[in-house]
Amino acid sequence: MQNPPGTLRDLSADELISRAREAARFSYSPYSRFPVGAALLCDDGSVVTGANVENRSFGISNCAERSALFAAVSQGHTGFRAVAVFCPSADAPVSPCGACRQALSEFCAPETPVYYAGSDGKYVTTTIGGLIPQDSLHGLKETTEESGAASTH
Ligand code: THU
Repeated sequence: MQNPPGTLRDLSADELISRAREAARFSYSPYSRFPVGAALLCDDGSVVTGANVENRSFGISNCAERSALFAAVSQGHTGFRAVAVFCPSADAPVSPCGACRQALSEFCAPETPVYYAGSDGKYVTTTIGGLIPQDSLHGLKETTEESGAASTH
């Protein structure tokens, strides 16, 4: 059966990284001059991308990974099969920051592969669990739901 328009199945790491590379073109990073693109392979096979978006009030800038994650969740995607990050101006691969590791771990299983690449396209492969080990708060959502807090997921 053919895939529905806009969805991709059996995407390779190279293809997902190339989507992250394209996303970096939309980076708004006049302060750091460090563009970053991210691509998430969603459970249904579609890909959602994001770029870092900076602000003159530096603290409210957003990383590419969280741009992609928040866009994806806002479109109804809450499960992911892989994550790719591309930094076109970095000589070597740059791994997601601590805040992004935490944010991604809310929706990605520990075994979810993460690929991060620098300008030459060479990439490191790790997992969400490798980036954020000893994450002991996974039961918190269930506990909170039992106590009656509102949640749609
Ligand atoms: N940045 C990302 O978007 N993702 C990363 O994994 C590392 C850092 C952004 C934040 C800021 O806009 C710029 O890169 C420099 O830190």
